[in-house]
Amino acid sequence: MTILSKKMRSVAAAAVLALTAVPALATEFKVAVGDGAGGSQEALGAAFAAALAEQSGGKHSAKLFLNGQLGDEQDTVSAAATGTLDFSILAINNITPFSPEVGTLTLPYVIMSQEDAEKITQGEIGQELIDKTIENAGVRIIGWAYSGFRVLSNSKKPVSTVADLQGLVVRVPKNEIMIETYKSWGVNPTPMAWSETFAALQQKVVDGQDNPYLTIYAMKFDEVQKYITNLRYIFSIEPLIISEQLFQSLSAEEQEQVLEAGRIATQASSEFLKTEEAKIKEELVSRGMEISDPANDEQEFIELATSTVWPKMIDSVGGKEALNRVLTELGRDPVQ
Ligand code: MLT
Repeated sequence: MTILSKKMRSVAAAAVLALTAVPALATEFKVAVGDGAGGSQEALGAAFAAALAEQSGGKHSAKLFLNGQLGDEQDTVSAAATGTLDFSILAINNITPFSPEVGTLTLPYVIMSQEDAEKITQGEIGQELIDKTIENAGVRIIGWAYSGFRVLSNSKKPVSTVADLQGLVVRVPKNEIMIETYKSWGVNPTPMAWSETFAALQQKVVDGQDNPYLTIYAMKFDEVQKYITNLRYIFSIEPLIISEQLFQSLSAEEQEQVLEAGRIATQASSEFLKTEEAKIKEELVSRGMEISDPANDEQEFIELATSTVWPKMIDSVGGKEALNRVLTELGRDPVQ
């Protein structure tokens, strides 16, 4: 047994202390972003990156990879679940195939304003959807972008009635609720990955699609689309998700930093929509897009979608009780 002198013991103790005091290596996390620059996804991601750097005292940073560089939105959910991707920002409708309960946020004409979206996502129901998504999909929602209503765009003609829609080939995400909604309007839509949509519009494989103004702008759809109809069937909510494997590998302090950065980014996203949407709409008009409202305050679209899609899809989102909780929280009449 080696007997250390008093001096050696104090040197050894100092060395241990120095080792434990060495800060862990800084980490740069990768954040997949489905959309291009200038939209709500980038705004959420940039606010998150800044807040994470600040919360972690510069130890952690986040790098955004825009325009689906790290894969199509739905593929990024699987990549994050298996731990090969750190974070992703994507539309909620592209999480629904992995976590059906979040479909309550995609059911047509349920979320009818930014206030509704914030109330649900930031309240008790939102927390339950986060928990379900960890369980179902292996990813944790830590922030929310609010992007505005998904308006319909197309390259062929102005649309204001359900009759005008007939004959148009419309791309939708691979999301059953959205497919059923178009079917309720008499249209058989074309389900397609987000990453393929611009090319399909450009090559006229499809005539139209729907997404918020901020997304149409970020994706430069004005280059390949002419007409916009102000549908309000889905208010687009776009979560920031973290791989649950990665989250669980972080210390409690780091987890709190990530969560706090997510909360700060959510608030920034809320402001971004309020300040930017009207400006972006004007910009799209100045680039030649023509905007119209649905006839008769959208009543025909609303009645067809709610009377068909709600009963058909209600079980997939957790049943009548789940939908009624959301409706009641929003001060609306429950379904019978
Ligand atoms: C989609 O249409 O697939 C998504 O809403 C696109 C997006 O994330 O902006």
